[in-house]
Amino acid sequence: MVRKLYIETYGCQMNFSDSEIVASIMHENGYKITNDICKAHVIFINTCSIRDNAEQRVFKRLRQIQSLRKNNSGIIIGVLGCLAERAKTSLLEESKLGMRVDMVVGPDAYRDLPNLIKNVEGGQQAINVILSAEETYADVTPVRYASNGVSAFISIMRGCENHCSYCVVPSTRGKERSRNPGSIIEEANQLYEEGYRELTLLGQNVNSYNWKEPSDKGNINFPDLIGEIAHRLPQARIRFATSHPKDLSDRLIEVIASNPNICRAIHLPVQSGSNSVLKRMNRKYTAESYKQRLTAIRNMIPKCSVTTDIITGFCGETEKDHQQTLKLMEESMFDFAFMFKYSERPGTTGAKLVDDVPEEIKTKRLEEIIQLQQKLSHESNKSDIGKVFTVLVEGKSKRSKDKMMGRNSQNKVVVFKDKGFEPGSYVKVKIEKCTSATLLGEAL
Ligand code: SAH
Ligand code: SF4
Ligand code: F3S
Repeated sequence: MVRKLYIETYGCQMNFSDSEIVASIMHENGYKITNDICKAHVIFINTCSIRDNAEQRVFKRLRQIQSLRKNNSGIIIGVLGCLAERAKTSLLEESKLGMRVDMVVGPDAYRDLPNLIKNVEGGQQAINVILSAEETYADVTPVRYASNGVSAFISIMRGCENHCSYCVVPSTRGKERSRNPGSIIEEANQLYEEGYRELTLLGQNVNSYNWKEPSDKGNINFPDLIGEIAHRLPQARIRFATSHPKDLSDRLIEVIASNPNICRAIHLPVQSGSNSVLKRMNRKYTAESYKQRLTAIRNMIPKCSVTTDIITGFCGETEKDHQQTLKLMEESMFDFAFMFKYSERPGTTGAKLVDDVPEEIKTKRLEEIIQLQQKLSHESNKSDIGKVFTVLVEGKSKRSKDKMMGRNSQNKVVVFKDKGFEPGSYVKVKIEKCTSATLLGEAL
């Protein structure tokens, strides 16, 4: 009988990409992926620790799936990813946790999964949360079990050493390391041959990608890498996430500008508009230098969308700091933003500061930035009415059966009437209407 594996993923794109690596390793060991949790012999929850509510969601889900043990006592439940790495053995303490977790596996230990499962089958709990300075899974071909056949992630590096003071990622993902560029280019070619047309290069800070060629033959940095991929696959769209503002180089902006198939969309998390907050966050740039980077982008890449992340209510944030964030948002005219209330993470340097902004103030400030961003997103979309965009078709629109959806180079969702377009094809669409989240148009 074929053993079945069910994987559920939380958190960032990196984690979704990791789940495809996990699927590959398990597939090599005879497992078949199922999307029906009730049919699974093994259930992996690939978890996120970025904020307390991300962890609480995981615990709630783990509690829910315990009931599956009633009908199938042999079921194996594993916690993978960042929460596994952060909480470690405490996830195996059944009496404290109030439920049983069979295995705990950190992001650098996925090659060990088949062995760990054997231990569990032998009646033990199993754990491997060892972080590595080298592991990039370069030779593992991801199994794209949840893909739309058009868009795919390619992980180009792992870990992070920026140590933003609020952030748990450096401790859950370990040292920064770049993947061999040959294996990245090979994966990109392979995906293109399989019909994929949108490739997103992933890392916590892709700008610090740096591969040292053996025997001192020089270095390959991110502009080199993305330029090379874009050049080799002119019919594919290349995206990347995420860029740290402190090292978004002019050279990268030039490479984007001179390759039309590198998408006109940059995600550049600003976090705050106040220099004193940025300093406490250890972000290593100022509001002024951030805006200078935006000016460089807008001068060198016409029609480039810029999106961001904002944390509100970080330690010591005053009303004045908050107003500076609102001002920076308005000046920067972000096309979209992910906005969060600060959540103190154990073990970070931020946790040594006093989390002194009261919950109701955090809530109020978050509402204000969300409201402002909604206005900015709507304005950005309204300015697209009447324009014609090349849209990469992804599939049917979720809301209506006779419509299709895709994205333009700026990464905005475009919805248009289905005239028999194939997913993976490019269609020119003239924009007629919009909401703050979507462009609506007619295919030409
Ligand atoms: N590596 C990426 C970010 C990864 S985490 C980068 O540096 O841009 C995604 C976003 O989560 C961050 O940009 C930040 O806005 C938010 N975030 C991270 N830690 C947080 C915390 N402790 N509380 C609230 N938001 C947080
Ligand atoms: Fe976290 Fe900063 Fe690294 Fe991003 S760059 S993952 S926010 S430490
Ligand atoms: Fe979450 Fe880990 Fe990504 S903490 S945001 S899954 S790197």
